[in-house]
This record gives sequence, C-alpha cells and structure tokens, in this order.
Amino acid sequence: MGKLGLGIAAACAVASCAVAAVMVGRRVRSRRRWWKVVTAVQELEAAAATPVGRLRQVVDAMAVEMHAGLASEGGSKLKMLLTFVDNLPDGENGIYYALHVGGTNFRILKIQLGGQRSILGRDVERKPIPQSLMTSTSEEFFDFIALALKEFIERMGNNLQLSQVRGKDLGFTFSFPVKQTSVSSGTLIKWTKGFAIEDMVEKDVVECLQKALSRRGLDMNVAALVNDSVGTLAVGHFLDKDTVAAVVIGTGTNACYLERADAVIKCQGLLSTSGGMVINMEWGNFWSSHLPRTSYDTDLDVESQNPNDQGFEKMISGMYLGDIVRRVIHRLSIESDIFGPLSYKLSTRFVLSTPLMAAMHEDDSPDLREVAKILEETLDIRDVPLKARKIMVKVCDVVTRRAARLVAAGIVGILKKIGRDGTGGISSGRIKGYKSGKMRRTVVAVEGGLYTSYTVFREYLNEAVAEILGEEIAPYVILKTMEDGSGIGAAMLAASNSARSVDTVQVL
Ligand code: BGC
Repeated sequence: MGKLGLGIAAACAVASCAVAAVMVGRRVRSRRRWWKVVTAVQELEAAAATPVGRLRQVVDAMAVEMHAGLASEGGSKLKMLLTFVDNLPDGENGIYYALHVGGTNFRILKIQLGGQRSILGRDVERKPIPQSLMTSTSEEFFDFIALALKEFIERMGNNLQLSQVRGKDLGFTFSFPVKQTSVSSGTLIKWTKGFAIEDMVEKDVVECLQKALSRRGLDMNVAALVNDSVGTLAVGHFLDKDTVAAVVIGTGTNACYLERADAVIKCQGLLSTSGGMVINMEWGNFWSSHLPRTSYDTDLDVESQNPNDQGFEKMISGMYLGDIVRRVIHRLSIESDIFGPLSYKLSTRFVLSTPLMAAMHEDDSPDLREVAKILEETLDIRDVPLKARKIMVKVCDVVTRRAARLVAAGIVGILKKIGRDGTGGISSGRIKGYKSGKMRRTVVAVEGGLYTSYTVFREYLNEAVAEILGEEIAPYVILKTMEDGSGIGAAMLAASNSARSVDTVQVL
C-alpha cells in the first residue's frame, strides 16, 4: 500500500471514529434526556402518591373540618351550608320542570313523577353555555336560560300554549356556592369553575331567574333552589331510602349529606320537622396539609381565576385534570425531545380537556393509536414514538388515580362524621354495632361525568373506598350512579315544596 493508500485508510478510520463518537454522544445525550423524563414522571408519582395511610389522614381531616364548619360561620374552609331541605321527597306525583346551571352545559328537564318511588318519564335537553355568557352580566345570562326554557316547553308541549305551564313549579339547580335563606331563595357567595359574572355575587339567584322568566313571558314559580349535590341526594333517596349522602364529580366537585339538626351548632335555633337537615358541604374548597400536592397543582392554582380557592376541586374535577396533565407534558417537552419539537399549544391553558385525557388513558390499542391521534390533533405533537405515548398514558394514570382516591377519602370522611364508617365504635378490635347487626346499609349517590363515563376513574374510586373501609365494612357501603340526578332531584324538591306549600324549616 502506497503512502496515498495509507493516508486514505487513516482518514477513513478517523472519520468513522468521529461518526461513531457523534453517534455515541447522541445516544448518551438522548439516554440522558430519557432518564430526565423517567425521573420527572417518578417524581410526579411520588408527590401525587395516595397510599392508604395518607388517605386515612385525609378522611380524618375531612371529618374534623366538617365539625369545624358546622360549629361556626367561617370556622373552616368547608362552608357547610344550610339547604333548608329537611325532608327528602319520596312519593311525589305530577309533571315538573327543572333547570340545571352549573357547568359547561346547562340542562332543562321535564319529569313525570308517579309517586311510590317511580319516575314515569323524563325529557332532558342539554345546551352548551357560550363562553362569553360565563363572564357577561346576570341579565344576559338569565335571559339566555329563560329563553331556552321557553323554547323547550314549546317543543315538549307539542304546540300546546305556554299558558299550560302557568303557575307551574320549577326546580332550579344552581351548582355554585349559595347562602340559602329558604328552600327557594339564596344569594351567590362566589363563582367557581371559570364563571365570573361579577354583578351576580351576593344577589338572590332566584330573583334573577324569576325576573328573566317574566321578561320572556313565562309565568312559572321557582319552588326549589338546590345545589346539584342536593338534587342528587334527593333523587338517590327517592329511589333508595338508605341514601345518606351525595357526591358530584363533574366539571366541579361537591358533596352533601343528611345531618342531625342539633349538630349544626352555628345555627342553634334551627327548627326542622324531621330533626335533620341536608348540608351542602362545598367540599371543593376543602384543604388539608395531608393532600398530596405537586408543583403542577401550585402553578395551576396561581394561574387560575380563583387562586387559593377550591383547592380540593383543582386536584379532582373535570375542569382541571386535563390541564394538570398538559402541564406535566409541557415540562417533559421542555426538558427532553421525546415529544419532538416544543409545541406552542402545550402552553395554552385548558387546551387538553379531561374527556380527551380520559380517552388517552383508556386507549387499549397495542400501538396507542388514540393517544397519537389526540397528541397530533389537539396538541400539534406528531410522530411520537411508542415509549413517549406510554409516558403520556402513565401521566394520565397518576393524575386520575390521585383524584379518584381523594374523592374516596372525602366520601369516607363524611361517613366517619355521621358514624357510618364502622370506626366509631371499635373497641378491643371488634366493631361494635356491626357485630350486633347495627352497621347499616349505607348508600352514597354519585353524579358527574368523571364517575359515570370514565371507567378507570370509577374503578379507582370504588377500589379506594373499599381499601380505606376494610373488607368487613366495605360491603355495607354502596356507591350508586345517578345520571341526571341533580336536575331530577330539583324537580322532586320543587314538587315536595309546592305540595307542602310552606317552609317547614325556620331559623329562629
Ligand atoms: C361548586 C359546587 C358544585 C360543584 C359541582 C363546585 O365548583 O362550588 O356548588 O356543587 O362545583 O358542580
């Protein structure tokens, strides 16, 4: 081999070494970036962990805060609001209408009650609330609702005259914190879930609706103003007498339950014919240092319309879960290239909705086709390798699992407060009451898309309730799905209130 040949060979060797070095370097860098991703996901998992011990701390904190909220006004972040519902309906008859305002959609319902725990018919119409109305004026907002109700009645009545509903009682589910002054009146305390109609705060909600109905020529009477959780409890109790509490897990979250009137210490003079009172907990605002909060939750809160407010809701409900996942993926994309070039969409708040997140989480195709499709169509992230799609599913799982398990802890917290969790009487390792047959069947009605339509969420929640309660007590506690429960319940409460025609509850 001549000098030239040696030169060429040496140059080739150097070149291939350089190529190899570049490739090794790239591989090392890419592996490092991958480890960064894995570490970030592991950190998320650790920060969001909900082992049963921690859930039990949340259970106790919930029960303690419930006591505090009942003891004095402002005694807890849990408002524990009076609802003036002391009797839950059980045998009403007739046709009733109801409106449900509270999330991204609003619903109008026509219900035919047949007495004896039977609902003979129901017509439900859902209408999206235009984004602009959520921050408009109370007049515009209620005019929109009243018009929709009028059109619904016209359609349902098969051209019968509007006069046929003259004087008819209407149930109104208004799913925001309201300080009730009677079963059919109350003022808005604050908005949640992205609504911000400023002139409504501290106004009487029923008065606003009633005026809008008149403006539209509808002569109807708002006979019951109820929170969605209270409507859900009403229908749950109508169908099953052992129902003692209700939980809503939709755009927002909340719970209510049946309390003894004498336990409502902040309202000593509470007179109730039944000796009980439904309490609207407004648990979306619950807070405890035991809640497993991550840096993503803190950021979401700081950037929200209501910082430092609705902390529990922001870890649990449909308005926020998708956005927590988006924040995690945003950070992973900044720190690595596993999701390709950084998509600007990842910095857009709420671009990833919870239903889309659920669809990714529940994608069971071997190559995670649905995940790829949603990443591309919603987040503008293309050609993502399978291992990155798996990371996406993992993140959805961590966020959803935490949410579902926290709801479970909240539910057991309520049961603990009312002595239905089996712990109240434990002595010498034996469960008092339970042994002697006193541990009663206890039903919790559950409404909201996260529970009714998101199977993994529901399974995690049910599993966690059983885990916290333990195998002896768990069989006595039943969670029952109530589709459209809140609206139907409002119609029932309108029915029972019009039948009684006088308020049976007074505050002295
Ligand atoms: C509201 C509650 C409501 C819950 C579920 C929360 O944001 O404060 O009043 O019950 O959402 O809709």
